[in-house]
Amino acid sequence: MRMVDLIEKKRDGFELSTEEIQFIVTGYTKGEIADYQMSAFLMAVYFQNMTDRERADLTLAMAASGDQIDLSAIEGIKVDKHSTGGVGDTTTLVLGPLVAACGVPVAKMSGRGLGHTGGTIDKLEAIEGFHVELSTEDFIKQVNDIKVAVIGQSGNLTPADKKLYALRDVTATVNSIPLIASSIMSKKIAAGANAIVLDVKTGEGAFMKTEEDAKELAHAMVGIGNATGRQTMAIISDMGQPLGYAIGNALEVKEAIETLQGNGPEDLTELCLVLGSQMVVVGGKAETLEEARAMLLQVIENGEALKIFKQFIESQGGNPAVVDDVNLLPQAQFKTEVPSKAEGYISNMVADDIGTAAMLLGAGRATKESEIDLAVGLVLHKKVGDFVSEGESIATVYSNTEDVAECLRVLYNSVEYSSESVEKTPLISAVIT
Ligand code: URA
Ligand code: CA
Repeated sequence: MRMVDLIEKKRDGFELSTEEIQFIVTGYTKGEIADYQMSAFLMAVYFQNMTDRERADLTLAMAASGDQIDLSAIEGIKVDKHSTGGVGDTTTLVLGPLVAACGVPVAKMSGRGLGHTGGTIDKLEAIEGFHVELSTEDFIKQVNDIKVAVIGQSGNLTPADKKLYALRDVTATVNSIPLIASSIMSKKIAAGANAIVLDVKTGEGAFMKTEEDAKELAHAMVGIGNATGRQTMAIISDMGQPLGYAIGNALEVKEAIETLQGNGPEDLTELCLVLGSQMVVVGGKAETLEEARAMLLQVIENGEALKIFKQFIESQGGNPAVVDDVNLLPQAQFKTEVPSKAEGYISNMVADDIGTAAMLLGAGRATKESEIDLAVGLVLHKKVGDFVSEGESIATVYSNTEDVAECLRVLYNSVEYSSESVEKTPLISAVIT
């Protein structure tokens, strides 16, 4: 096989065989296919797309390019959840213990964040003592015992995706549905998922800016999941404004605890119930989404979900007392209220900009080497559709520096007002099963 012939075949709109796709992925991972040929191939895919079969083959080839985690020693259907990313997204912290309490094993491999706030691991490390350096043996034992564990990312997961993503980034080929869908799904499959639930975000704070694009991506990933024997469901959810009220690591842990107690923000709670219901169904613990939702509400109500969260923290070296006393989480030195400069209904709170405001305080990493300040961030007091009087606080800034002028400037710029009442944006616009 010659790469030049495969580039030509794709360029002219023909379908590649399984063997041809494996040849490309393996060859590129090993360094036998040059970047310039791969770049041409990616551009051909960008314009010619891929059939469902090609997408599934590409996903499996990338999943097989490095370590594949074997979770077969864990009883039950291992369900993984993936979010395409947003601002203040605390769902993983809530969903883990929540669906574990319904009997679905959650064996989560997670990463650190690069962006507005930390990733799931950074957030969990806001809990004193918590660590994710577990041996595979302990990881599996913990999931069998309490149904939930989080481990740090294995170094050699999907090397093909790492190399391809870096190349796509500099060849204007990131924004291609078959390439994005296979990239995400290959990582879930390599991490050992038997079933997958996807939260595809849309809006200004999201990767997919329009609902149409988000839906197309969701259908592509569900198609790949089902074609590769992993039951997959997806939802489309709004990321025009941040999710919940808290943006910042320790602040989001506190918000997650409140949500598990049944006192969380309405949007975060609803998102967790909808995603959680899908996880319980694909995990085989309920027949219908309605039945699953009732189970989730019950484990919040009877304290079972919160109890699992405590056991989970304790099993991974953390201090479970934070659940009963959130003041044990890292605290910022300074608190600054943000008085509204106008009166009216809030018509927009640009998630991306609010995330940037939190990052300026040190809540997120600007580069891989940046240190995160786990205590800092923002807590919003208003969301889109809320009325605010001039001078009323729209947010509290938690910082470890007295000067927060730059953060405030970005924050003020992110908010728009309307003199007439504004409809709240629907949180979930589609459920794809
Ligand atoms: N996220 C991924 O993991 N891969 C992509 O290609 C795009 C977003
Ligand atoms: Ca939040």
